[in-house]
Amino acid sequence: MVSPSPRSRPLPILLLILAGAAVIVAGQGEQQPITHPGCPDKCGDISIPFPFGLMPGCFRDGFEVTCDHSFDPPRAFLADPDTNRITVTEHVASAVPDDPYLAFDSNTSYLPIELMDVSVDRSEARVYGPITSGCSTNSTHYMMEDQAMSLGRISTETDGPFAVSEALNVVIGVGWQAGVSDGSSYSSTVACRSELPGGHLENARNGSCAGRGCCEAALRQEEYQYGPITEVAPGLMLDDNTLWRTSPCSYAMVVEKSWYNFSTPDLYGDRTLPGRFPRGVPVVLDFAIVEGAACPAKGQRPPPDYACVSNNSYCVNATVGQSGYALSYVCNCSEHYQGNPYIVNGCQDIDECKFPDLYYCASNGICKNRLGGYDCPCKPGTKGDGKLGHCAEKFPLVAKAIVGTTGCIFVIVVLSFIFLLRKEKKKTRKFYERNGGPTLEKAKLIKLFKKEELMPIITKKSNFIGKGGFGEVYKGNLGNEIVAVKKTNSGSLLENEQFANEVIIQSQVIHRNIVRLIGCCLEVDSPLLVYEFLSNGSLHDILHSNGKKPLNLDIRLSIAAESAEGLAYMHSKTNTKILHGDVKPANILLDDKFVAKISDFGISRLIVRDKQHTRKVIGDMSYVDPVYLQTGLLTEKSDVYSFGVVLLELISRKKASDDNSLVTAFLEAHRRGERATELFDDEIAVAEELEILQNLARIAVECLNLDVDQRPAMTDIAHRLLIMNKSRNS
Ligand SMILES: *[C@@H]1O[C@H](CO)[C@@H](O)[C@H](O)[C@H]1NC(C)=O
Ligand SMILES: *[C@@H]1O[C@H](CO)[C@@H](O)[C@H](O)[C@H]1NC(C)=O
Ligand SMILES: *[C@@H]1O[C@H](CO)[C@@H](O)[C@H](O)[C@H]1NC(C)=O
Ligand SMILES: *[C@@H]1O[C@H](CO)[C@@H](O)[C@H](O)[C@H]1NC(C)=O
Ligand SMILES: *[C@@H]1O[C@H](CO)[C@@H](O)[C@H](O)[C@H]1NC(C)=O
Ligand SMILES: *[C@@H]1O[C@H](CO)[C@@H](O)[C@H](O)[C@H]1NC(C)=O
Ligand SMILES: *[C@@H]1O[C@H](CO)[C@@H](O)[C@H](O)[C@H]1NC(C)=O
Repeated sequence: MVSPSPRSRPLPILLLILAGAAVIVAGQGEQQPITHPGCPDKCGDISIPFPFGLMPGCFRDGFEVTCDHSFDPPRAFLADPDTNRITVTEHVASAVPDDPYLAFDSNTSYLPIELMDVSVDRSEARVYGPITSGCSTNSTHYMMEDQAMSLGRISTETDGPFAVSEALNVVIGVGWQAGVSDGSSYSSTVACRSELPGGHLENARNGSCAGRGCCEAALRQEEYQYGPITEVAPGLMLDDNTLWRTSPCSYAMVVEKSWYNFSTPDLYGDRTLPGRFPRGVPVVLDFAIVEGAACPAKGQRPPPDYACVSNNSYCVNATVGQSGYALSYVCNCSEHYQGNPYIVNGCQDIDECKFPDLYYCASNGICKNRLGGYDCPCKPGTKGDGKLGHCAEKFPLVAKAIVGTTGCIFVIVVLSFIFLLRKEKKKTRKFYERNGGPTLEKAKLIKLFKKEELMPIITKKSNFIGKGGFGEVYKGNLGNEIVAVKKTNSGSLLENEQFANEVIIQSQVIHRNIVRLIGCCLEVDSPLLVYEFLSNGSLHDILHSNGKKPLNLDIRLSIAAESAEGLAYMHSKTNTKILHGDVKPANILLDDKFVAKISDFGISRLIVRDKQHTRKVIGDMSYVDPVYLQTGLLTEKSDVYSFGVVLLELISRKKASDDNSLVTAFLEAHRRGERATELFDDEIAVAEELEILQNLARIAVECLNLDVDQRPAMTDIAHRLLIMNKSRNS
């Protein structure tokens, strides 16, 4: 029973994917063809590229190969064993001096030439070549086994396509006394001679074929016609009975250059060398297309059945051939192509970038393959040709260093700037919080200025207008309003909540005769306080500045009344009584209409009361209540005392601070019950005003009473001064 399974669905997709994968694998694994389509290209492990071939129609004349499957793996042989073969001739020879090379029972056999490999782009093939040996059988006779390789003709007129490569093979002789020749027959021309004088086998050296047990010589082509025939003439020592047993054999062979490494054991024993290399030794053959044709000259028609059929291949005239003068040629792939030039499209572009050892491209170049070559453009920032040498830096090192350094510095500066900015912002926030910013923010009573708004004012020297006990004062413009910015001395203030509370209190004090606090800035270490600016300066300046301007009694009286009004307001504030603590003419400011306003009140409370600061802030001891100095307890009566001194200064226009004489003089006069007429300012001390001056002096003296309880309250004083003021103006 078949039921549709939900799992069956993905199967077709899976198959599709697999099919796709197979295609890809096939594409990647696809080998460039080396022979015609349909022709087997291998015999066992050996590749058989065209013009070699195993089947009719798969090879050119002379290049047939037979594959012997009786071996495992199968072995390939050059076909046509009538002409391409190794001839083995065995005979017994005598070493008797008067009949040196007498041959007995000569036996001849033939062997096919086995193919090792083919290199079609070098027009080379390697085959197994024979080893000729001569071995003593007894002290007077030896057995010769001459082996000759013959490379046959295609026809009687045409040479065979193969020739033993002169350049790539050598003749080798091995034996303690051997003369080796490479001619077709015995000749007196000995190619090389190997000897170990006295038969001292121990003198032989491994590796070297310099004549001691092994000799080597170049091939001489003129010496052979059908391939190399090596002959060895082993020497025999007739009077020696033992050496022919120990080292009976001598060997001769044609072999690929640098292939044979002489090893001393090769000297010992019977046929040791053929025993080591039973199939033979490698011999390099050149091959060519030997069909009586040469390469076509430019513009000439190619010969019939022209072999160089691949695109990107070319023809090279060859001299391969037994006689050397027959016309022959080989094909080769053009530069930057590789493969088999003897088949259509056999020459394929080389991806040079995959072979950086063969095809140079500078390390700072970009290797790019293209058909028939490759390019190596220099990377951006460098110039030149990466194929010809190292790409040069476009910018000299110095310029690069400068650019680099500049860039580096720039980055550092920017980073530092950002870092500082963040640090500054953090600091700003820290100050803001420490100075009670959040509390003030909540109170929403005064304006909280940004640091950036006030910094321009306090950093400009021309804005500086004075210095008080608490810090410096600057005049500046904020919007449309002229303001005074007070910069408190750093470290002298209370911290956070307390400061904020004081500021809140001050900001709540809104009175005609009190300098108005507009706002503050808490974003700096020592907070900045912004007040309304009063154009006529302080009472102190007006009274005592150099060019003393006339100041009539009316103004003085109104200043006194208004100051008292301001102080009284502060003292009378019900929930938080505010004490000034530093009443003096310098803290009474006058606006453009000479309206007096109390300034700096409460500042004393903002100031940390360490001893040093007490003296500094209180500064002018002349105004300070001696009772306060004794008890350390600041009360509103302390302000009353100070106001008393201010009154005396107003009517005398003398500085209380010069010495304490002003207060003393008035008190003295009062004690004596005298009128202190001489103490009054001459400008106002006219007869009709004496009465009022006397009244003012009396109020002052009351204020200065050392019995605190006897001093009148500020409201009382203000009231009395108001009446005096009103009665004069009415
Ligand atoms: C020649 O070959 C035959 C048969 O292979 C052999 O019996 C004979 O001993 C050989 N003669 C020599 C001299 O090697
Ligand atoms: C064919 O070309 C290669 C490289 O281009 C070269 O090494 C080889 O000798 C050439 N063969 C012949 C027969 O000219
Ligand atoms: C050596 O061997 C040959 C034939 O093999 C023989 O004729 C000859 O007498 C032998 N010589 C000696 C000394 O044994
Ligand atoms: C040469 O090498 C073989 C091994 O390859 C070693 O047995 C022999 O002793 C060596 N001969 C000399 C003279 O070093
Ligand atoms: C001889 O030595 C060379 C270099 O060491 C090596 O390539 C070669 O295969 C050796 N020949 C044999 C027959 O071992
Ligand atoms: C090859 O040889 C032929 C005949 O000698 C000559 O005409 C031709 O120019 C040669 N070609 C080359 C490429 O040397
Ligand atoms: C081979 O080259 C010829 C011209 O030289 C061109 O027409 C042809 O398309 C090429 N064939 C291939 C497979 O590139």
